[in-house]
Amino acid sequence: MTIRKATQLLGDIAVPGDKSITHRAALLGALAHGATVIHNFLVAEDCLCTLRCLQQMGIAVEGMGTREVVVQGKGIRGLREPRDVLDVGNSGTLARLMLGVLAGQPFEATVTGDASIQRRPMDRVATPLRQMGAIVQGQGERCTPPVTIRGGILKPITYTTPVASAQVKSAILLAGLNACGRTTVMESGLSRDHSERMLRAFGADIAVERANLPTCQPANVVTTISIQGPAELHAQEVTVPGDLSSAAFFLVGAAMLPGSEVRVRGVGVNPTRTGVLDVLREMGADVRLENERETSGEPVADVVVRHAPLRGVTIGGDLIPRLIDELPILAVAACCADGITVVRDAKELRVKESDRIATMTSELRKMGARIAEREDGWVIEGPNQLKGATVQSHGDHRVAMSCAIAALAAEGETVIEDTACIATSFPEFEEILERLRAS
Ligand code: S3P
Repeated sequence: MTIRKATQLLGDIAVPGDKSITHRAALLGALAHGATVIHNFLVAEDCLCTLRCLQQMGIAVEGMGTREVVVQGKGIRGLREPRDVLDVGNSGTLARLMLGVLAGQPFEATVTGDASIQRRPMDRVATPLRQMGAIVQGQGERCTPPVTIRGGILKPITYTTPVASAQVKSAILLAGLNACGRTTVMESGLSRDHSERMLRAFGADIAVERANLPTCQPANVVTTISIQGPAELHAQEVTVPGDLSSAAFFLVGAAMLPGSEVRVRGVGVNPTRTGVLDVLREMGADVRLENERETSGEPVADVVVRHAPLRGVTIGGDLIPRLIDELPILAVAACCADGITVVRDAKELRVKESDRIATMTSELRKMGARIAEREDGWVIEGPNQLKGATVQSHGDHRVAMSCAIAALAAEGETVIEDTACIATSFPEFEEILERLRAS
């Protein structure tokens, strides 16, 4: 992808459906009785992998490749043993949630994916799923894929997650659907709660309690989520909101470029996801939510961002899980902000689609940014006049799109290599970006 400097971003857009919610709607649809109708399904590689895996296990899917998808569910133990390995592509969320689903199925299956997936740790889900009774075998100490799992009758557990991770929490809750009794997950901090909301909508008995622990650092909240098994799920009609993580690229672009104003309609603004909006506000941007409403149990709004001079901020603690996927694009904002930005407590970035602490440091440096790598984040000194360069995506969609937005503020031309990965979450990215700069 070749991108030249832009003067401003202007316009009114919608972004494709939320990736986290799309995965969950398809998986819960398969485990429910009856036909689950999913509107605004995210037609991107990660979520298409979810549908293909479900088809391999005997689930009928209508509307594959469109935004209106129907999943014919067969109940919590209705999946069929797949004849082949299950390919999750590039999707860590699908790998981990699928292992949770498979833990309760009475057969053996193998989950694998691309080169990036084969480096990602699955021990974080293998450990609790083994405690529940599944047999899980992956590669090496960190249980990387291919991972073979034999599921069956599960026992409920109470498990404290070592990191606030929605993927781990969700995998345990999905397994808990098939356990006899109450399965409880405790996490410090608060990761995205789409699974809890959707499980409840599908009829599961799920309870959530939050306790403040003012002395516990860096997180000061402990969340306890429990689910009663065996559960019976009922098919639903789900409308997927726009993905705030996709919108974030344009919202940050608008905040950075003088004279910009971007409105993104119908975006999910679940409070466990809106850390990026809080940080943009703290940096000085003009951020507004309009037309706030609720769709399928998720808060939705039109998000409007106007440029204002940005200043450096500190990002850490409980805020991290609320903006974990937006840290690469916030690093770009920090390059253009006045003063120092510190990102800490974000070591999880090292085990995403790429080691995002390392990859964003190396690529932004090529563009002239003063950015120092820390074990758990960055120190970024701004403002920087970025300059065009040839940069790499490292096969990571969010690194590619973050570099594209950085390129809008850089003198000259930027070439981003290996941008096919953008299709994992946001195939329309380049087209929407062109529209915003043209108007
Ligand atoms: C996701 C959870 C997050 C996030 C990922 C999507 C989900 O990962 O980074 O893109 O849908 O549950 P962790 O659970 O590893 O924090």
